[in-house]
Amino acid sequence: MTNPAISVFETRRSQYAIGKQIPLDQEATSALIKRAVKLAPTSFNSQSSRAVILFGEHHDRLWQIVMDTLREIVPVDAFASTEKKVNAFAAGAGTVLFYEDQDVVKNLQEKFPLYADNFPVWSEHATGIAQFAVWTALSEANIGASLQHYNPIIDEAVAKEWDLPSSWTLRAQMPFGSHESGFSEKTFMDDSERFRVFA
Ligand SMILES: Cc1cc2nc3c(=O)[nH]c(=O)nc-3n(C[C@H](O)[C@H](O)[C@H](O)COP(=O)(O)O)c2cc1C
Repeated sequence: MTNPAISVFETRRSQYAIGKQIPLDQEATSALIKRAVKLAPTSFNSQSSRAVILFGEHHDRLWQIVMDTLREIVPVDAFASTEKKVNAFAAGAGTVLFYEDQDVVKNLQEKFPLYADNFPVWSEHATGIAQFAVWTALSEANIGASLQHYNPIIDEAVAKEWDLPSSWTLRAQMPFGSHESGFSEKTFMDDSERFRVFA
């Protein structure tokens, strides 16, 4: 099957070995990330997703916050591997922080009480779709990325550092950078167990 969307999906992988030499400058990279988040669909077109894009010393500061936070909770004898992992993310060119604005969710719940229970769930769907959109857009631009979840332990320090609204909840972190290694092969479960097509 040849399909341009599927071809990009095929290039997207979790890239943990990232460097600083990305093919786009910071402005073009930001524009790409913003466009991907804007084009990602949200329930009722509520546009609940928010993104914080960190480059340079801001990116370094984020991974320093992660390191400092983990140092307080990871046992000393296990910290070397944690340190290596965090340093690998810090070696990248930047990080996207994905947020969902809970004020938007609350407003929707008030406006459409019939769907009140669904809006928090749909907000989680929306962030996942936005994350995939950014991840694949970066991949198409030959920029490697992975998806990390150091929330909620870093939330407070991050919100304080970049003075973010208290209604924004951190859902994921996406460190990105140049590809510094290939990928191991990915296996897939059997289609017959996953899909049922009736035609
Ligand atoms: C919802 C979700 C959460 C994930 N969380 C993490 C994570 O916290 N840390 C991590 O290294 N990878 C995380 N991943 C990446 C997956 O492990 C990875 O996408 C999967 O193994 C398939 O590999 P691929 O991305 O190379 O296709 C997450 C992926 C998804 C979709």
